Parts: sequence; structure tokens; C-alpha cells
Amino acid sequence: TLLDKGGFRHFMAKEIAEQPAVLADAIAHYLPDGLHLPLDFSDVDRLTLVACGTAHYACHVAKYWFEQIARLPVEIDIASEFRYRDPVLSPRQWAVFVSQSGETADTLAALRHASGKVGKTVAVVNVATSSIARDVDVALPILAGVEVGVASTKAFSCQLMVLLVMALKAAHDRGVLDDAALAAHLADIRALPGLMNQAMTVAQPVAALADDLAEAQDILFLGRGPIYPLALEGALKLKELSYIHAEGYASGELKHGPIALIDAHVPVIVLAPRDALFEKTVSNMQEVMARHGRVLLISDERGIREAGADCWRTIRMPEVPALLAPLLYAIPAQLLAYHTAIAKGTDVDQPRNLAKSVTVE
Ligand code: G6P
Repeated sequence: TLLDKGGFRHFMAKEIAEQPAVLADAIAHYLPDGLHLPLDFSDVDRLTLVACGTAHYACHVAKYWFEQIARLPVEIDIASEFRYRDPVLSPRQWAVFVSQSGETADTLAALRHASGKVGKTVAVVNVATSSIARDVDVALPILAGVEVGVASTKAFSCQLMVLLVMALKAAHDRGVLDDAALAAHLADIRALPGLMNQAMTVAQPVAALADDLAEAQDILFLGRGPIYPLALEGALKLKELSYIHAEGYASGELKHGPIALIDAHVPVIVLAPRDALFEKTVSNMQEVMARHGRVLLISDERGIREAGADCWRTIRMPEVPALLAPLLYAIPAQLLAYHTAIAKGTDVDQPRNLAKSVTVE
């Protein structure tokens, strides 16, 4: 049946493992040959991306993509804030609502608030028959399949995939990405399921760390640029599942407050593919180590060779094109939460006080 764990101990483990396959489905749908998306971004001045929880972090990554690739200004908002702050909306602007369930009350209310005030409403949604999918002008399916685990995993990576396809379409429509550059990105995207499969091998080293992480009272996650929202997502997942207090920070913001927390007991998890900002992240990491912080560096082979020497632990990821790093680094973020929760003995698929779909405001 649909609600079968398929030999996995938890739905969450199954849904993490399914990511390469469901991403391949989304790729087949949106990139069968070229790029197929029923939206033309030629006359849009700005986007507002609205969501809750993990879907909000997908929007946060997408803001980096739309701005970097398409030069399109994007604001992101939490749905429960959006409607009550009386946002400035205009017909030259589109509002995009991202939701796995399509039933989250805050996101649905935000959509109703924006309808008629913006040029177009768009949903990035998993459940095609949901209220949000029905009420928008254009609903884009993420094709993740049924997600049972309360903490969103495969829906997050499929949301990212659809948002990335949107950013590339916007860049092409706006004339800031030529055919050759677009084709190169599409080729990278087609290789992603294979890379995701390779990244699944981090499950073993992550599981080996879990007993140590389970002892911690507080855990910090750091990231920069489009990986910063992954630090937020890693912290959210960890606290949802293991009930350990965790916070995500932009690496460069560490010195403006959270560094006061650092001592030999606080694990600091640094998500840092070897990208253009890597050296900056390394210097933030060294500030932690100088205060005897326990750094877990998650990077690729080059990153670990250059900066891993004095770290408490390192986890090696496959090398990945910068654009796709947020998708790949979702895997260690999810697995850290999963294995730490198992080490603590908490209910992974049904954490206390949380619901899969929150239909009250
Ligand atoms: C709940 C879930 C989260 C999810 C959020 C938004 O809080 O526990 O995992 O990210 O709702 O849900 P949605 O269905 O709108 O994506």
C-alpha cells in the first residue's frame, strides 16, 4: 500500500532514501528535453515567496537563486507574518506559495490575502487536489509522492527542484541566461539524482556521530549564501526530532552573538561545500575552534583537505556544482536529525506536539 515503510524502520528513512528517485520524476516532468514550465517571467518586476516551516527554508534558498541567476528581486515571508503586516502588493509582482500539503492554514490565508492584488498567484505544492493548488492561478506539482513523516524531507528537495527550474526559466525569459548557459545548468540538474545517491553514503558516518550529538544541550549549524537556509533547516529538523535545542546561523553572523555560547560542549556543524565563499566560512570556523568549540565540518574532499585538520569530525560529501549544493546538503542535514533522534529514542515519524499539516491558524 501507499503507507508501507518498504522495509525501512521509519517513514522518514524511507522518504530520505527516495529523494534521488522522486527528483528524477520531477526532472522528467519539467526537463523532458528543454525546460517546460507554464510561466513567462518577461514582465514580472518582483516575486514574493510565502510558506511555513521547512517550505519557508526552500523559499529562502530560492531567493538566492532568483536573485543570482535571474536578477529578479525576491522577498520571502513566513505566511503568518505576511498577511498581517499589510504587505505592499502590485500587479507587476507575483506571489508564490510553497506547501507540501497545500492545506496549511497560514499559507492558505496568505494566498487569499494576495489574490487579486498581485499579477499572478503560483503554488509549488505536493498534493495536487489541495485547497492551495485549487485556489491559485498556476499550480506547479513537486511530484514527491505521499510524504508521511511529519518532518518534511523529500518534499523539501522537490520544492527546491521546482523553484530552481522556475529561477532558470525566469533567467532565460528575462534575457540574463543564454541558451548555452541554460543547457549547461540543465545537464548539471540531470546528473543530480546520481549525486544524491552518492551522498546517501554519509548515513554511516552520520550515524557514528549520533551518540555524541545526542549528549549535547545545544547545537549550532552554520552556512553561508544559499547554504545558510540549509543551516536553518538542519537546526529545525534536529530540534523537531531530537528535542535538542539547535540554532542555524549565517556563518558571518556568528561573531555578532552566538559565539558567546561556544565552549567545549557545544557542537558546531558547518555546512560548507568548497565554493567561492569557502575561505570566509573557514575563518568563521577557526573562531569557533579558537574557543575550543567542537566543529563538525561537512564539505567535499578539497574542502576537508584544506580546512579539516583541526576539526572535531569531518564528513565528506561528493563535489557538486554550486547551484545544486543546497539540494545535496539537505541529505546530511536530514540524516543528522534522524540518527540523533534514534540515539535519543524519540518518535521520529511523529514528534511530540507537531502535526503533518497544520490547518489551524
Ligand atoms: C508542519 C510540518 C512541517 C512543514 C510545515 C509546512 O509544521 O511539521 O514539516 O514544513 O507544516 O507544511 P506545508 O504542508 O505547508 O509544507
